[in-house]
Amino acid sequence: MTENNKNDRTEDGSDKPERVVGTPSATTEERVVSDASTEEQNGHDGPYAASETQTHPEEQQRRGEKLASLWFTIATIAGIGFVVSYFLFPPNAAGEPSIANPQIGQYSNMLLGGTLTLALFGIGAGMTVWSRNVMPQYEVHSPYDELPSEEEEKGSFSEFFMKSADESGFTKRPLMRRTLIAAMLPLGIAPVVLLRDLGPLPGNVLKETPWRNGRRMFVEGTDRELRVEDMENDPNGMISALPALVDEDYEHGISMDDQAKSVILLIKVPEEDWKPSMTEHTEKDQEQGRDEARINWTHDGIVAYSKICTHVGCPAALYERTTHRILCPCHQSTFDASDAAKIVFGPAHRPLPQLPIGVDDEGYLIATGDFVEPPGPTFWEYAKD
Ligand code: FES
Repeated sequence: MTENNKNDRTEDGSDKPERVVGTPSATTEERVVSDASTEEQNGHDGPYAASETQTHPEEQQRRGEKLASLWFTIATIAGIGFVVSYFLFPPNAAGEPSIANPQIGQYSNMLLGGTLTLALFGIGAGMTVWSRNVMPQYEVHSPYDELPSEEEEKGSFSEFFMKSADESGFTKRPLMRRTLIAAMLPLGIAPVVLLRDLGPLPGNVLKETPWRNGRRMFVEGTDRELRVEDMENDPNGMISALPALVDEDYEHGISMDDQAKSVILLIKVPEEDWKPSMTEHTEKDQEQGRDEARINWTHDGIVAYSKICTHVGCPAALYERTTHRILCPCHQSTFDASDAAKIVFGPAHRPLPQLPIGVDDEGYLIATGDFVEPPGPTFWEYAKD
């Protein structure tokens, strides 16, 4: 609302009425500049002194109030519509989100986006009408070289602010004030509603995997059960495996979620290469609830580790046979398969969890329990080993 037009003078040298930026030039009828009001406005001392006030006729102000209130009412309805739209598509009978269906998702997005746009637009339009038709217009001048403000200037600003709040009609026009507050409320609630998208608490779903005592394993991407000989035929090699589930709904009998947390690396390490962390029952083992040395969780030199890198979850799928190093290609975290998958290098902060394994009566490799630590990225706050 500020424009410095001190140079605007008429040809005879008298001051020309100044126009306020953002407002149309006032007609003679619209502009009511009484001596009394000028005197009153000139009461604003300091950098915010007002030199001229354009007060709109009461009739125009009333029209403005109604129009602004109409926009605020539209914004209120649209804001409520946003919240209602959010709950309009509940999960289906199986508990799956119905918006997973692309068609329904499209309708949901259109409704949410449309109502939110209308709510914000309604508030903006209402405020524009309000400022252009109800609020009086001032031209104010403020020098830029007087920082910081003096106490007197602060007082002057405070007085000017309070007076402006009064003159804006916010206190005097209850219809407009109430509709504006009503329009703001649904928008204030909207972010709270969206918090629901954080979903239910995960419970133990991230800590538990489908590995159980006696469960056989498939070679990853096949339905072929692994036997001990498969590793023996590939000494010093590595095989990726998954729990042998047979859920008919999924390819290879296992959901993607379960695959993501239960995939393991099977690696054969020569007996003489095991480090003490594997052969001895360490303090760390006891702290983490392991009541025996890790070597007892291997079978005939075959050890199983989670394939999910503990840094940010890439598959750690590169293996260097001669050094027994497992390398994650994403950020080069390196783990030692012969040393309880301890970190040799890189940004990961905890070893790959080990899966206890054995062999059943028919010679198939099996798990003898679940991981004792949750697999996956390090948000479990385990200390660096
Ligand atoms: S995800 Fe493996 S090193 Fe970053």
